[in-house]
Amino acid sequence: MQKIRDMGFERKVVVVTGASSGIGEAICRQLLQQSARVVMAARNISKMQQIAADFEEAEVLIIEADVSKKSDCEKIIHETVGSFGGIDVLINNAGISMRAIFENLDLNVIEQLMAVNYWGTVYCTHYALPYLLKSKGSVVGVSSIAGFQGLPARTGYSSSKFAMHGFLNTLRVETMKQDLHVMIACPGFTASNIRNTALTADGKQQGDTPLEEGKLMTAEEVARRILSGIARRKRTLIMTMQGKMTVFLGKLFPAWVDKMVYNHMKKEKNSPLK
Ligand code: NAI
Repeated sequence: MQKIRDMGFERKVVVVTGASSGIGEAICRQLLQQSARVVMAARNISKMQQIAADFEEAEVLIIEADVSKKSDCEKIIHETVGSFGGIDVLINNAGISMRAIFENLDLNVIEQLMAVNYWGTVYCTHYALPYLLKSKGSVVGVSSIAGFQGLPARTGYSSSKFAMHGFLNTLRVETMKQDLHVMIACPGFTASNIRNTALTADGKQQGDTPLEEGKLMTAEEVARRILSGIARRKRTLIMTMQGKMTVFLGKLFPAWVDKMVYNHMKKEKNSPLK
């Protein structure tokens, strides 16, 4: 197993949602290597048990939770505080995606995207906030460039990430005098399961990826950057040059960037764009 640079997470209590796969799994593995006290929350309990089994001495709490349910988010925080006495970091990572044009889209798809990506973040942050304020800790939203720039055929995904940004940016200003660290992390396209589980127009999972996953940034690299960003109490992390250019140029030349993004997304395998 590759040794991870110590970033000061030893004994810190870190809650990670969406811990069973991809970026969430990689974050948990790196935290466990650094002897953090890790709370893994997701729906697939056996997958989380398999991950934790690789770390025999670890202090890890596994919680079965669907973050779109308020009561499950309350349970995550309640059980964390019951076991570890407080919270240092909350990483709102659980997320789902979609691919369909809005004209054809069942409204349930947008509702599901908002429920997991946006409401999951709001619920977990709400219940964790008293403990995070006490520890002067960090709350992180794993977002996307789609939270800065509308991505065609991803209305629900972009809306949910824009909403996350609005929520977290406001929380940062509101708690300015209380030393809460609020970070928005925006990976570029990252190899994971997210495109396989992405919802299509009728709400069924896509079951395939239009990208060459092997050529994308790894979940491990994204996890390393997120943990380093937390350690350095960064405000926003945009992890690729493509992402940086999209955000920067989108402020100066929004109509031009719209065209570039449309043409780029249209080239995807089986794109619903004309
Ligand atoms: P993934 O599909 O491998 O992992 C997503 C995790 O969220 C899984 O553990 C899944 O079970 C969990 N999850 C989904 N719905 C849930 C629910 N209702 N309750 C609890 N857990 C739930 O995907 P990935 O890529 O690791 O995604 C993690 C985050 O990274 C997401 O928020 C995604 O939007 C974001 N992201 C991913 C990018 C990519 O290209 N993979 C790019 C930019 C952002």
